Amino acid sequence: MRTPLIFLAAVLWALAPLSAQASPGAPGQAPGKDAKALRAFFAAECVRCHGADGSALGPDGKRLKGQDFTNPKEMAEKQDAKLANTVLKGIFFGKVMPSFKGKLTEAEALAMVTEVVRKAEKGKAIQP
Ligand code: HEC
Repeated sequence: MRTPLIFLAAVLWALAPLSAQASPGAPGQAPGKDAKALRAFFAAECVRCHGADGSALGPDGKRLKGQDFTNPKEMAEKQDAKLANTVLKGIFFGKVMPSFKGKLTEAEALAMVTEVVRKAEKGKAIQP
C-alpha cells in the first residue's frame, strides 16, 4: 500500500503551484476592475505623481518629471503594452514609480492604459 500514497503525494505536490496561480483576479479569470473602478484606482494611487488629470502636475509629479498623459504627441509614440508593463513593474525598483503588480492584473494594467491613461484630458480630473 505504499506506492499509492507516494503517488498521491506526488500528484498533490505537482498540483500545488497550479492552485497557487489560480488566485482570484489572475489574467483570464473572473472579470477584473472595470473602467470606473480603474479611474477610482487612478484617483487613489496615481494622482500624487501623475496629477488629477494625468498631466503630471500632482504634488510629486513635476519633481519626478512625470509623463504628461494629456499630451497627444508624446503619447502617440508609446505602445500600450510597454506602458502597461511600466504600471506593473514600476520604475527603478519602485523608487521612482511603485510597482502595481500586486494590485492590478495584467489585463487591468492594460485597461488602465487604454481606458484611463489614454483618455486623460488636460484640466479634467480622472475620477469614477
Ligand atoms: C511616486 C510617483 C508615481 C506614482 C504613485 C505613479 N507613477 Fe507612473 N510614473 C511616475 C514617473 C516619475 C514616471 C516616469 C515618467 C517619464 O518617464 O517621463 C511614470 C511613468 C508612468 C508611465 C509610463 C509613461 C511612459 O511614457 O513610459 C505610466 C503608464 C504610468 N506611470 C502610469 C501610472 C499609473 C497608472 C499609476 C497608478 C496606478 C502610477 N503611474 C503611479 C511616477 C509615479
